[in-house]
Amino acid sequence: MAVRIHLTFCVLKSVRNKMTSCSCFKRNIRSLVTLNRDVNNTNKGEIRARILGIETSCDDTGAAVVNEKGEIIGNALHSQTETTVSLGGVLPQYAKALHKKHIDTIVKDALQKAQLHPKELDAVAVTVEPGMPLSLEVGLSYAKQMVLEHGLPMIPIHHMEAHALTARMVEQIDFPFLVFLASGGHCLLAVARDVDDFLLLGNCTDCAPGDAFDKVARRLKLKTLPECTGKSGGAMIEHLSRCGNRDTFNAPDVFFKKRSCNFSFHGIKSHYMRYILEEESKQGIEGSGVISNASDLCASFQYAILRHMCRPLQRALVFCDNNNLLAETKTVVLSGGVACNRYLRHGIEKVCVTHGARLVVPPPELCTDNGIMIAWNGIEKYLCGRGFVDDPQSVCYRNRSPLGTDITEEVTKAHIKVKLIDLGL
Ligand code: KG4
Ligand code: ZN
Repeated sequence: MAVRIHLTFCVLKSVRNKMTSCSCFKRNIRSLVTLNRDVNNTNKGEIRARILGIETSCDDTGAAVVNEKGEIIGNALHSQTETTVSLGGVLPQYAKALHKKHIDTIVKDALQKAQLHPKELDAVAVTVEPGMPLSLEVGLSYAKQMVLEHGLPMIPIHHMEAHALTARMVEQIDFPFLVFLASGGHCLLAVARDVDDFLLLGNCTDCAPGDAFDKVARRLKLKTLPECTGKSGGAMIEHLSRCGNRDTFNAPDVFFKKRSCNFSFHGIKSHYMRYILEEESKQGIEGSGVISNASDLCASFQYAILRHMCRPLQRALVFCDNNNLLAETKTVVLSGGVACNRYLRHGIEKVCVTHGARLVVPPPELCTDNGIMIAWNGIEKYLCGRGFVDDPQSVCYRNRSPLGTDITEEVTKAHIKVKLIDLGL
C-alpha cells in the first residue's frame, strides 16, 4: 500500500509540474485520484500488469513502464526536436542513427526508474504502424530481441490509436468518444468505440497542422531568436503569437467543395509563406534576419489554423449527434503534438462547449510522442486480452496504416452545414 501511495504521488507530482498552466489541471488531478480509487475497489490494490512501451515511429526515442492503474513507474525520452529544427525536418537516415544510438540507454533508463528487471514485465508494447520505416524498424528490432531473450509476450501498437487513448490514462472517459488528433504527420477526427475499434470521420488531405507550423517557423527563421531555443516549430509560433495581433495578416477560410470533416493546411501554409516573402522584401531582410512584425504574422497564422480546425470538428459533432455515435456524456479528446498549443485548445474547447461536449486534453508531455502512451495502449489491450501476437519475430512494421474503419465518404454524403461559432479569441 505504501508503495502504491508513493507511486500515485509521483504521478500526481509529474502531471502537476507539467500542467501548471493548463486549464484542465484540476480536472486531471481529480480524475486521476478517482481512477485510482475505482481500480482499488475492484482490485484491492494488487498490480496485475506492468508493461514496457517503446516508441520510435518518427524522431523521438521513448520508453516507459506503466501499470494498469495508469501509474507511470519509469519513463525516459530522447527528443530529436533540436536536431529536426536545425536540419529543417526529419531526415530518415539521421533519425534512424539517433534512435539506434539512444534506444538501449532509454529502455534501460525506464526500467531502472521502475526498478524492474525485464523478466518482471508482463509484456513489451511497441509501435509498429504508421511511421517512418527506418525509425519503426529500430524500435521493433529492439523489442523483438528483448521478448526473445526474456520470454515475454509482445503487443504491436498503432501509433494513432495510442495517441487517441492516452487521455483514458488520466481521466475517466467511457467509450464511445470523439478523438481529434493533430500532430506533425496527421490531422483526423474519429470515434473511438473500443480499444481497437475506431470510425474515421475525417482525415488530412495534404500537409498536417504540425508540419505547417514547422515549415512557417523555419521560413520565418525563428530558431535564430534566443527565446525559441529548444522549441518545436509549433511551440515557437505559439510563443511569438502571444504578443502579436491576429488581424494583421488575414487569410481566406479554406473551403472544400464538399461538406466533409477533412482538413487541408497546405493553402494556409502557402498563403503565409507568401506574406513572409513580401514582408522580407519590403523590410529589406536578408540572411538570417527575422521580419520586425513576426509576432503579428505568427498570431494571424495560428488564428487561421484554428479556424480551419474548428469547422470539421463542428460537423463531426453534428454527425455524431445525428447518428447517436457518442456516449451520453459527450467527450472530445484532443491529442497529438499540436494539442500542446494552449490557444488552439481554448478555441476548440469553445466549439465543444457550444455543442454540449466536454474537452479532455492530456498533459503536454503525453500529447507529443512518448513511450508512456505506447505502454498505456499495451495495458488497455492486455486487460481485455487483445493484441498479443503468437510469433513476435514475424511482426512487420507498416509506414502507412489508416485509423479504423473509414466512413469519411458517408460523412461527406451527409452534407452537414455548420456555421463557424464566434471564437472570440
Ligand atoms: O505528436 P508529435 O510529437 O509527433 C507526430 O506524431 O507528428 O507532434 C509533433 C508536432 C510538431 O509538428 C510540432 O511543431 C507540433 O507537434 N507542436 C506544436 C506545439 N508543440 C508541438 N504545434 C503547435 N503548437 C505547439 N505548442
Ligand atoms: Zn505522434
